[in-house]
Amino acid sequence: MLTESAPVRFKPMPDKVDWRALRGDFPILHQQVHGHPLIYFDNAATTQKPKPVVSALKNYYEHDNANVHRGIHELSNRATAAFEAARSRSARFINARSAEEIIFTRGTTEGINLVASAWGQKNIKAGDTILLTEMEHHSNIVPWQLLAGRTGAKLAFIPVTGEIGMLDMSRLDEWLTPSVKLLALTHISNSLGTINPVQEICARARKLGVTTLVDGAQSAGHRSVDVQEIGCDFFVFSSHKMCGPTGIGVLFGRGEVLESMPPWQGGGEMILNVEYQTSSWKPAPHRFEAGTPDISGAVGLHAAMDYLDGIGRDKIAHHDQELGAYAFSKLSQFKSGIRLFGPHIGRAGLVSFLLKDVHAHDLVTVADQRGVALRGGHHCNQPLMRKFGVESTARASFYFYNTTEEIDRFIEVLREIQKFFAT
Ligand SMILES: Cc1ncc(COP(=O)(O)O)c(C=O)c1O
Repeated sequence: MLTESAPVRFKPMPDKVDWRALRGDFPILHQQVHGHPLIYFDNAATTQKPKPVVSALKNYYEHDNANVHRGIHELSNRATAAFEAARSRSARFINARSAEEIIFTRGTTEGINLVASAWGQKNIKAGDTILLTEMEHHSNIVPWQLLAGRTGAKLAFIPVTGEIGMLDMSRLDEWLTPSVKLLALTHISNSLGTINPVQEICARARKLGVTTLVDGAQSAGHRSVDVQEIGCDFFVFSSHKMCGPTGIGVLFGRGEVLESMPPWQGGGEMILNVEYQTSSWKPAPHRFEAGTPDISGAVGLHAAMDYLDGIGRDKIAHHDQELGAYAFSKLSQFKSGIRLFGPHIGRAGLVSFLLKDVHAHDLVTVADQRGVALRGGHHCNQPLMRKFGVESTARASFYFYNTTEEIDRFIEVLREIQKFFAT
């Protein structure tokens, strides 16, 4: 039985956001690293946490901490109410029809593994195709490889076109062959900054009866997400990439799909009745949440969702894109000394690049000495890196608390690095 989620309760900010003032909510940003003001540009890996999220965690542990569901004492009731309120809040955050469509996981990775195991075990057989794209994070490749290994299914990949790093939509129908049973793709690429047209892709897949999963790790905290509008069967994301604590994430599953799935892990909380030889299961979502969940994580995630919606996710998306475009245009001025990856326009708030003759790890190490936190490596996109003929890239990824002045300083640091390695 699906229940309607409660109406949204948060205070929208005035039209114009004072982005600089928001930095006051993030004490961690106000520090020196190696004698320089910290510039935190590693937000695609994890974001920083604002004071309301830290306070919610502290408040929970100081006043309400207990285990959920099993107790009938006051603290357990409070903890249960807080945990279930976070579930309803998550449903509203992505416009799910009901809180019963929300499963708490450890994060995006665990959500995809849950689907690959529980849904995959029931629905995938030898000869079926699992369709992914060439820009997937390892989290959205390896669980499907494991499933294919268990079942005899095959994996296929929608190609990424050229250096621009977009999906070739004109050929999508060629990839959606009759053997495709599942299409899983990322909403925003963590290494290219490409924003995929997931709504259009899911609509085309759905017409053919293909089940769809969208990896929202890089999108949920950066733009409004409406799972009903996207039309996907599953949507996964991680709290720590959107101002919330680590250790918790959300798997949305369409009610009808979740109800048809067998359990994933067995244990306490997910059962109706246990005999020595057999057991019966609770309905979704509890069927998929064996054991004590991350209760404080859910409380922190709830606070993060309120915080982000208090700013307005459409405003965050706009600001992100401005920062991404600003950084991309500044980097483009390096001309022949730089290789830039990903789309030139309409990109998310991150840039991936290589400076000529400078290894990404060296670049990131020197930038760190100047207080600039970047990431260098394959970004859990090894097959994509190989396709581009590189081992790694350097990546600067932004969030709403970053500024154009920080990007200017980052560009200055890159020029110093270029000079240093040229001598
Ligand atoms: C696109 C994408 N998918 C999945 C993940 C995995 O997220 P987590 O490590 O929080 O499970 C990431 C993390 O960087 C990501 O960027």
